[in-house]
Amino acid sequence: MKAIVIGTGYVGLVTGACLAEVGTQVVCVDVNAEKINNLQNGILPIYEPGLEEIVTRNYNNGRLSFSTNLAEVIPGADIAFIAVGTPPGEDGSADLQYVLQVAKEIGTHMTDYLVVVTKSTVPVGTAVKVNREIKQAMLDRGALLDYDVASNPEFLKEGAAVQDFLKPDRIVCGVNTDRAKEVLERLYHPFLLNGRPIIFMDIASAEMTKYAANAMLATKISFINDIANLCELVGADVNKVRKGIGSDARIGNSFIYPGIGYGGSCFPKDVKALVRTGMEYGHGLRILEAVEAVNNDQKKVLFHKISKHFDGMLKDKTFAVWGLSFKPGTDDMREASSLVLIEALLEAGAKVRVFDPVAAHEAKKTLGESVTWATDLYDAAEGADAVLLVTEWNEFRLPDWTRIKQIVKTPVVFDGRNIYDNTYLEKNGFICYSIGISQ
Ligand code: NAD
Ligand code: UGA
Repeated sequence: MKAIVIGTGYVGLVTGACLAEVGTQVVCVDVNAEKINNLQNGILPIYEPGLEEIVTRNYNNGRLSFSTNLAEVIPGADIAFIAVGTPPGEDGSADLQYVLQVAKEIGTHMTDYLVVVTKSTVPVGTAVKVNREIKQAMLDRGALLDYDVASNPEFLKEGAAVQDFLKPDRIVCGVNTDRAKEVLERLYHPFLLNGRPIIFMDIASAEMTKYAANAMLATKISFINDIANLCELVGADVNKVRKGIGSDARIGNSFIYPGIGYGGSCFPKDVKALVRTGMEYGHGLRILEAVEAVNNDQKKVLFHKISKHFDGMLKDKTFAVWGLSFKPGTDDMREASSLVLIEALLEAGAKVRVFDPVAAHEAKKTLGESVTWATDLYDAAEGADAVLLVTEWNEFRLPDWTRIKQIVKTPVVFDGRNIYDNTYLEKNGFICYSIGISQ
């Protein structure tokens, strides 16, 4: 089996490496020559636990290779994945220009029957557009080859992408021919151990499934954040409420952790895109509009708490920010809540000392020299008026609080992810603020 994966970002590289890991011959293609050149020299463009190991192993055993030249690598392929970005356009809808460009390139260069699969997150109806691009490109060169278009949305999470891909909860495939179904069944067979299902459906339903899944998860997060904020007002503890509701199997314990809002490259853009699709069809998605609004407010919650504690006088105060990436386990800074917080602090005239174990390099592209780049969490806390826990990396979970107390200016902690034991911290002389726990 030979697969081409076009777009070698988070999804494309993980997909390519994991398919190669189980025996498929894979070529990952990208327009970014520097990225491809680096990969050929063993340098990965992203931080993702476990990825370097399988990329290196499969590159060395010859099952995984990298190219910028689709025309050269497409002959002999059984399946081609489109895994390029679908960023939000100005009106919130998914920008399909990269997907459609790739479809055109496939139509221009394919030499034999191919299953063309959209792995990027795309709105319902995109497969029809992809089909149109391929057909037009073939007509333009006077070719008439057989092919199928399919949809296979990806559900991996950053920070756990390799495990998610190798051991998926399910694989969703939208197909409209038996031939495409057979190719996808064969490709994914190695991932279906222990009863993991592959779910076939029509293409429109597969495209919608991806948005509905992300929208549901985002809804859970905004719901618990809204409840957390109410807990503070009524004197309840959201941690207890979370356990109390999560133990009901119908609700479940996952994705109901309150915090400072969801970030990342997907929830924000996919919620926006689905709202936009609703509008296009005259069907306002009121729940999702509220999910987005709650999330935008939640990204500012820590700043409001800080401002209140210091009576609005933040000018020349120093804050230690622990964690920058939108979640632990990744260097991805897209839509990270840290950026909203830091911008507000800087605007209020505060000084910010930041530390992230992995994302500093990425974060520097946005934050530049507006903040001080600390070498570790203690260096960040040096002389700080307060410590702000933003991303719950493991190494922030059990700091040496005795040492912290000696080096900070005032022992105040704002815990944006509810990972600290407030009672312990308060016993040890800290003032501690969390999300959803009344002071
Ligand atoms: P990314 O930005 O990390 O990578 C996209 C890659 O595509 C880039 O390397 C870019 O150079 C390349 N590219 C653009 N145009 C190209 C072309 N014409 N030919 C070849 N390569 C081209 O994006 P990502 O985070 O991997 O997301 C890709 C898609 O997958 C999006 O639709 C996203 O919503 C979806 N998705 C992402 C995740 C995630 O965790 N990041 C998870 C599930 C689904
Ligand atoms: C999310 C989905 O979980 C994946 O299934 C999906 O494939 C992906 O989007 C995508 O389409 O790109 P990801 O954004 O990588 O994955 O990471 P998540 O673990 O979902 O976290 C997203 C954000 O939600 C983070 O900022 C995280 O801190 C926040 N979050 C998550 C909470 O605030 N509370 C929770 O209980 C869970």
